[in-house]
This record gives sequence, C-alpha cells and structure tokens, in this order.
Amino acid sequence: MSAPGRLAYAAPMAAVDLALRNARILDGTGSAVLEGDVEVTGGRISAVGRASGAAATVEIDAAGMLLTPGFVDVHTHDDGALLSHPELGFKISQGCTSLVIGNCGFSAAPALLGATDHTKLLRTTAGWTDLAGYAAAVHDAQPACNAMALVGHNTVRHLVLGLERREPTPAELDRMRAHVRLAMEQGACGLSTGLIYEPGRYSQTAEIVELARVAAEAGGLYTTHLRNEGDRLLDAVQEALHIGREAGLPVQISHHKAAGRQNWGKVGASLALMDQANAEGLDVMADVYPYTAGSGPMAQYFNLDRLDPALAEVIRFASCPARRELEGRMCVDVAGEWGVAPVDVIRQVLTAPRGTETICIQFLIDEADIETNLRHPLVMVGSDGIPDLNGRPHPRLFGTFPRVLGHYVRERDVLPLGEAVRRMTSLSCDRFGLVDRGRVVQGGWADLVLLDELTVADRATYDEPKLESTGIGLVAVNGVISYRDGVHQPVRAGRMLRRGRS
Ligand code: ZN
Ligand code: CU
Repeated sequence: MSAPGRLAYAAPMAAVDLALRNARILDGTGSAVLEGDVEVTGGRISAVGRASGAAATVEIDAAGMLLTPGFVDVHTHDDGALLSHPELGFKISQGCTSLVIGNCGFSAAPALLGATDHTKLLRTTAGWTDLAGYAAAVHDAQPACNAMALVGHNTVRHLVLGLERREPTPAELDRMRAHVRLAMEQGACGLSTGLIYEPGRYSQTAEIVELARVAAEAGGLYTTHLRNEGDRLLDAVQEALHIGREAGLPVQISHHKAAGRQNWGKVGASLALMDQANAEGLDVMADVYPYTAGSGPMAQYFNLDRLDPALAEVIRFASCPARRELEGRMCVDVAGEWGVAPVDVIRQVLTAPRGTETICIQFLIDEADIETNLRHPLVMVGSDGIPDLNGRPHPRLFGTFPRVLGHYVRERDVLPLGEAVRRMTSLSCDRFGLVDRGRVVQGGWADLVLLDELTVADRATYDEPKLESTGIGLVAVNGVISYRDGVHQPVRAGRMLRRGRS
C-alpha cells in the first residue's frame, strides 16, 4: 500500500515466501473464478490476481488447479485430538485449516485439574482449569490446524452440579455463569449445548437462556445439538429459537437432521421455521454432515432399563474397547451370530468393563434430507467427526469436505461449486468469529487449498473409514504448506484462535 503523494516503487519490495501461480481462484465469497497468482508473505496473503513481480522462496505452478480458502470444520470434537494427534491428518487431508471445537455441549475447558472429560468423548485429561490454560496446551502441542473454541454447557453443568437431575440453585447458576463468562473473555466464540446428553438433558430452557445471555453479552453465538432430533424435532427447534430470542444472540442448529424413518422429510419444515425466524429478525443458521448415519457415545443413546429395540436395529459399532472384535460390525449381525436379540448385544456391551466408552454409528437419516439441507443457503458444513482412531470411526471424520465437493457438487449437482466453497469458508468464518480468514483476499491469513475439482472425492467408507481423500493437492495453514500431493508435511502451523481477533 502506498500513501498518497508517494511513489509506489519507492516502497521496499517485501520478500515473498510462497507463490501459487496461474491458479483458478475461488475466493470463498461465492463470486466467479478469477485466474491468476496468489502470493504469501509472513503468513498472510500479500497479492491476489496479479503477481508482485518478486520471486518467491517457494514457487508452485498451480495451473489447472482451483485455489480456495482453507475449509473450516464448524462442528468437531477435536478438543483432545489437537493435543493427542496434533498432526490432524484426518482434517488437513480434507483441506480443513480451522476447526471449531467444544460442540454438543462438550468442551475441554473449563475443567478440574487432572480430570478426564466425563463422557470420554473428547479424551482429554485436563492439565488446565480454563480456556486460557487449554489454549496454552494447544500452543505447546503445535497442531496442524487452527482452532476456535465454544464453551460447552454439559461440561459447565457437570463441573458445578455433577450428574444431578435438578435445576441449579441461584448460587450454582452464578457459578455456571462465571465459567461461561471467563471462557468468553478468554476467546470462546459462544455457548454450545447437547440437550440429549448427560447432564444437559436435565436442564430447563430457562437455565440455557441465562447462560446464553452471558455469551450474548460478549458477542458470542448459541450452538445446539437439539433436545430432540426425531419425533419432537420441531419443538426442539422452537426451543432453540426461543433461547436465541430471549438471550439475544445468533442460533446455530448443529448437524441438522430428522432422525428415524417416521420423521424423514421434516428438515423441510424445520428449515422453514428457521427462515421464518430470520424474517422476524433472529439470526439462525445450521450445519450438516453429508452422511445418512450419526455417531456418538453409545451409553448416551440407550437407557439400560428400557433399551430401544428399533434403535438397536440400526447400530454399528465404531469403537468398542470392551469388545474390539465388534468394531465395524452391525449390532443385528452380531445378534444373529450370538442367537440373541439386538438389545441384548447392546446390554452386554454397555455393562462390560469399559463398555460405556463405546462409540457407535446409527443409521437414522434420509438421503433426501441431506440434499434439502445442502440446498439451503444458510447451511454450512461441519463433520461432527469423533477422532477415535482405534476402531472404525464414522467415515465423516476423514471424508466430509471432499464428499460434499465430489458427490454432492460434481456428481449430484445439488449446489454450485463456488457456493459450496462459500459455505465451507467465508460463511463459516463470519459465523464463528474467525477474523481475516475464509477469503482469498490481500491481507487475510494464508489458509489455502489447491484442489482438482474434477477428481476431488472422499474415499473413506464405513468399512474402510481411514482412507484419505483424493484431489486435494496442497493445503497451507498460516502460509505454511502442511500437506502436498498426499504427503503430510512435518511443519505444523495451526494456532488457537480468539473470537473476533486477528
Ligand atoms: Zn451433536
Ligand atoms: Cu457433535
């Protein structure tokens, strides 16, 4: 930039670290492809379109490739993986450069020093008590991706009330508020709930409103795994909208779906409720993963006193430390082999030592509903991947973003490529407070992807869930090349992000 009255050539030419030449640039805003170069200096984009004329330390011919902003996975459970698997191969190989953590009400912070997260979903043993302490641990681990945190209601409630099935006293509510306030001060982008899970499910709406108010005061949003995603989906959406209105903050419906055959198609009515709320001045959006199965801690979905036989029919074991031989198998097949009912298999697994650590996959979603979601302009992409690499995780962990681009954009033509990229980048960053990211623009952080739009595809399946995708040529995080031609690079350049801060 040259000040008025000064000659532009008088400014010293900055050294360019990385140049991607002759790319077809999709800038993340949804505008048309622009051909040209992108240059990176000091971690930020220093030129877009026309080259500066300086040679770069690393020159890459990107002819024929599409250059996009790095993808933002707005729904992850990678709080623990940022520390235990900082290479984050399952994310970087998809083109993901930033992750929103702390979803579904479960966050790494706040925590009791030395405590393991109560559902073992995150697999953290806290060497911290608050978000600042967790962020310092992430900094030390040097992960490959950037991370933005939500503060989880289940986590906060568990810290204050344990698993008690009652409302908090005024003093307890104050302590919960203080945890949310501190996390927001330390850079969290909002409050998340998971109202089907323990102990969030024991809370009344008014409690959530009170905590959401604290997030609202700090400019945050409210994200929610709804209290019901099946028969009472629309009631649960209404509860989320009510919380948004009462607390005065944006609402994000996490992994929007209608679970159970009898509810298929309801996502249309649910999106209509969101459209109506937006028309009335609320700010509501959603995210979706591109698969017909969900996944999560099995103990949370079954009540041992009355096991749900219909649910047991659609369960597949993902990670099962109690019975490793069940991993990758449908519960019904195991039941047939054992000569028992599927619910009896579920009972045996859940009551075995470490049985409650089981992660299952449940086939509950209609394919048509996924396309309905992806067609809606306010629905972004989030994997909901659970990074337990021991068993056979849901393929969304490795395949989500290439699957949207390959299957839903190229093969099914559900939405245009530029629009899909917008909903993986700029929309996501604006929503979750990631500043100066999500757009290929001069001055922005150089989180970049080079991909081949003709071949980009997921390879991960339920049987082979850990296959990395094809067609992702290069991924740069903060200007550092982290993945190239299928090879993970040793340098990891991710950072813990703070809401609204560059
Ligand atoms: Zn969830
Ligand atoms: Cu989740």
